[in-house]
Amino acid sequence: MEKSLSKSFEDIYQYRPEIFSFGPGRVNIIGEHTDYNLGYVLPAALNLRNYFLASRRKDEKVLLWAENFRQKEEFSLQEISFSRKNHWANYIKGIFWILEQEGYNLHGIDAFIWGDIPLDAGLSSSAALEVSVICGLNALFELGLSPEKMALLAQKAENDFVGVKCGLMDQFISILGEENKALFLDCETLRYELIPLYLEKAELGMIIYDSGVKRELASSDYNKRRLEASHALDILKKYGVKAYKDVDLKMLEERKKEMDEVLYKRAKHIVSENQRVREAVEALKKDNFSLLGELLFLSHESLRDDYEVSCPELDLLYETAREFSGSLGARLTGAGFGGSGLVLVEKDKISAFKEKILQEVEKREFIQPRVYKIEIGEGAKAYWLDKEEIK
Ligand code: GLA
Repeated sequence: MEKSLSKSFEDIYQYRPEIFSFGPGRVNIIGEHTDYNLGYVLPAALNLRNYFLASRRKDEKVLLWAENFRQKEEFSLQEISFSRKNHWANYIKGIFWILEQEGYNLHGIDAFIWGDIPLDAGLSSSAALEVSVICGLNALFELGLSPEKMALLAQKAENDFVGVKCGLMDQFISILGEENKALFLDCETLRYELIPLYLEKAELGMIIYDSGVKRELASSDYNKRRLEASHALDILKKYGVKAYKDVDLKMLEERKKEMDEVLYKRAKHIVSENQRVREAVEALKKDNFSLLGELLFLSHESLRDDYEVSCPELDLLYETAREFSGSLGARLTGAGFGGSGLVLVEKDKISAFKEKILQEVEKREFIQPRVYKIEIGEGAKAYWLDKEEIK
């Protein structure tokens, strides 16, 4: 991959790039809408990635070429402003912007960007782009940033420059993921543990079902959920609770009368989802995949009924998987309101499941989804081309 992308860089800039880096997309196995509620998540990195190749310039100009869109963008480090024309460029500008804000000394660059993560599918192509860029710049300008710091800065760039109030999960897993492992992260303390997830050995496979549904209002719905979750927590805080992690369903039940129905349901999802993540980690440690699968189903029910972020297409995936013998679990993954779902299936039933879900989609006349098997890949890396790795 390095070679062919390096060749494409050369075709554009007429010289060889100095560094090569990548950031992977992710699938969140369980723990949805818990990251910004300072709870638990269990994502894994995919072998679908965004790649970034770059060289230093002597001036302050940044030249970008996005191969997927065949578009270019140019700006000066003196004036990093939001691009209305090329939205993709804002994720890169945001990284330069945050590094400058933090006082890091940067120069201009020539860069080439390409990725194979489906866009708008809920697999974190934006975080992968940010991460590939920050890891690349960290290498190129020898900034000495730790992986955790890079994840936090990339999230801050998305929050404050791009204007999307995402949590930390996507950037964190894109940087810290490992092959055949899921990452159990406590989003409050940032303590994490890599949990082995050898699907092949267990004769299982994981399928992504990209519903093709893109909700224009997704980010405002997302922000609305954040507000509701925080209002419900404010009520619980009156009773000495600091974060959702400190609450169990019994305590929540006792405060039910003080909340309206919507706030109660939002809180119930967060509290029960935190619990499911912990149970999923225990299940994985014991290779209990049928329990893991059941937890995925329960997570979907909670996201559908209590957090209300599902849609008919993703509910159909859940219902089909519930009935299909050979599928252990399924749920929507990512923010919801469209995007993708994941299914845990016995390896030799993958094709039969694909066929079944496509038939069901056709019956309902839903948009044709993309259904494909995924592999759990490694986290971000950066290399000097022709030299050693410099994570
Ligand atoms: C999006 C956000 C994440 C997380 C998920 C929901 O992917 O970027 O930070 O909040 O939604 O779990």
